[in-house]
Amino acid sequence: MNNPAAAQARIAELRQLIEYHNQRYYQLDDPLISDADYDQLMQELIRLEQQHPESQTPTSPTQRVGATPLAGFNAVIHRVPMLSLKNAFSDGDVAAFQKDIIKLLGVSAETGIEYLAEPKLDGLAISLIYEQGILVQAATRGDGKKGEDVTHTVKTIRNVPLRLPGSGYPSCFEVRGEVFMPRDGFLALNARHQALGERVFANPRNAAAGSLRQLNPAIAAARPLRFYCYGFGVYPRERLPADMKTLMDQWAEWGLPVSPEIRVVEGVSGCLAYYASLQARRYQLPYEIDGIVYKINRLDWQEQLGYRSHDPCWAIAHKFPAEEVPTRLVDIQVQVGRTGSLTPVAVLEPVRVGGVVITHATLHNIDEIQRKDIRIGDTVRVKRAGDVIPRVESVILNERPADTVVFRLPEQCPACGCAVELEPGEAIARCSGGLYCPAQHKESIKHFASRRAMDIDGLGDKRIDQLLEGKWIATVADIYRLDVESLSRLERMGEKSARNLINALERSKTTTLSRFLYALGIRDVGEVTAASLAERFGTLDALMAADTEQLQAVKDVGPEVSRHIHTFFRQSHNRAIIDQLLQAGIHWPAIEPTRNHQSLSGQTFVITGTLASLSREEAKQRIKALGGKVTTQVSGSTTYLIAGESPGSKLETALALHIRILAESDFMSLLEDDPRL
Ligand code: IVH
Repeated sequence: MNNPAAAQARIAELRQLIEYHNQRYYQLDDPLISDADYDQLMQELIRLEQQHPESQTPTSPTQRVGATPLAGFNAVIHRVPMLSLKNAFSDGDVAAFQKDIIKLLGVSAETGIEYLAEPKLDGLAISLIYEQGILVQAATRGDGKKGEDVTHTVKTIRNVPLRLPGSGYPSCFEVRGEVFMPRDGFLALNARHQALGERVFANPRNAAAGSLRQLNPAIAAARPLRFYCYGFGVYPRERLPADMKTLMDQWAEWGLPVSPEIRVVEGVSGCLAYYASLQARRYQLPYEIDGIVYKINRLDWQEQLGYRSHDPCWAIAHKFPAEEVPTRLVDIQVQVGRTGSLTPVAVLEPVRVGGVVITHATLHNIDEIQRKDIRIGDTVRVKRAGDVIPRVESVILNERPADTVVFRLPEQCPACGCAVELEPGEAIARCSGGLYCPAQHKESIKHFASRRAMDIDGLGDKRIDQLLEGKWIATVADIYRLDVESLSRLERMGEKSARNLINALERSKTTTLSRFLYALGIRDVGEVTAASLAERFGTLDALMAADTEQLQAVKDVGPEVSRHIHTFFRQSHNRAIIDQLLQAGIHWPAIEPTRNHQSLSGQTFVITGTLASLSREEAKQRIKALGGKVTTQVSGSTTYLIAGESPGSKLETALALHIRILAESDFMSLLEDDPRL
């Protein structure tokens, strides 16, 4: 199109058309054109904008993906703090919530109280600022006061309007809501990542958080994110209507996405009826929800009720219990871990739990199998608590067939045939094969490359399997001998991925002594011990030369651990691999910089109930590694209570003391530095 005026007109038309179809697709769930036709409109717009650069504007739909990667995130101070929600776990908690409200408002107990009830989306909170109808800033919640500027990635979310299509909005206002990843998109993304040997996400929330916190918007653009508004921050007072529902209807009219599930209900009974109806449809919704949020509908009452330290007094999140489903346990297999630990894994008749089909579940250890009297052939209850890893909860004894088989630990390792050892009083059986055992060997390489160790991006499980099977590598040192040319010959590995992996290997060479020590996978040397060792000895040479007595002078290193460390460094094959790694160029600053890992310093945790994805001891270690403290009693100085399955009375104490409660999934995100917390 050479005529500039005609081009401008077509550009304007295309922009309108594309945003209109976005809205049909994402907000109304009623697309009018095919994806291919949509792509064609977009391609035409991109071409015209390239031919007429003067026409480019930041609100064009092409700009959703057009920005260049950032070097880092900018901090955003929230002028109105972004708070969290108090949790309710039972009908009684909801009744107590209303009782408190009636008291605080000073109204009669018979007053009909209206609530806005809506799904609690399992994603992450985002603030959006619109000026003159244009999206000017998007930020994560961060610690509630200070978040990160993620405008560049939020712009790629196709149901977030870059320019409001409606009219009548205030000249400047801030809406807040949840960014989440619908279930089908999450499964497809994980399948893709798995095939490429890249990181798979534990749940859609982690995937959403990981996608928004990308410096490169092109990566976020390829992730199927969605957004719904549920609240506001800075907002012109005179533009606030009488109630929240009217406000949200206005947002929808201006073109902001609002959940279609929102309802106004009355009293506790109205809340509970809504809860039951959504719980019944929970897994038919295209996205994950973990409960229902009830908010006082009247905005003057919201204001009158105000806030506690972390959450508003006018809202509560009524959580769904984790779903339990019966299925048949077909077999028990044994997995061999990095240090030879044998973990029994249940093979199940495929069953849908928490919206996903599962075929395997963890059984933790032999003690647990005996305690719960789980036998092969039993019908068992399976539970998925927050994350993807499900577990066998209990046996349905009255459905036990006559021919169940009692599980016995194998006497020989299923991977290498070496003897299995179970020390008296220990719950964990181990293969005695060491690195001779292919399973231990493989796990130790995975550990070496993992995020908290050498952090080699793109070297995931599948990739390592492939490299080992093809005999491309035998030890961790071999990883650094790979080159683009040989890598690109691997199946499912193009030249670009090969180049990315080589770059990631290069990047991983600059590390810290404590990461390197942790990566070596010395038995009982977790992150905390590795950091203490690095701090105490300063150099690898000094550590390698230390005797067991000197080693025991380090915090958390007892006779047993000191023996493991000492033996490790005395073994010539270990020293040879260390030499090769150093020769390959792995290095670290002479004096370790203060770690930025102390994100939990000054915070005190109490744990109650059972955690599904890690043991209590591991949880403690992880908290300590980040500088936090773990105590056994809830008190005024507790920062968080981590509530696992079947929490004890600590939960009630914490609720009474208004201590923040973290579900296991919240805790896992906290460990991963999720911006939400
Ligand atoms: S209202 C003042 N509504 O849940 C706090 N939050 O556990 C306003 N969330 O940080 C929050 N769906 O990220 C609200 N419909 C919904 C929600 C919702 C998900 C998240 C939000 C919040 C967290 C608290």
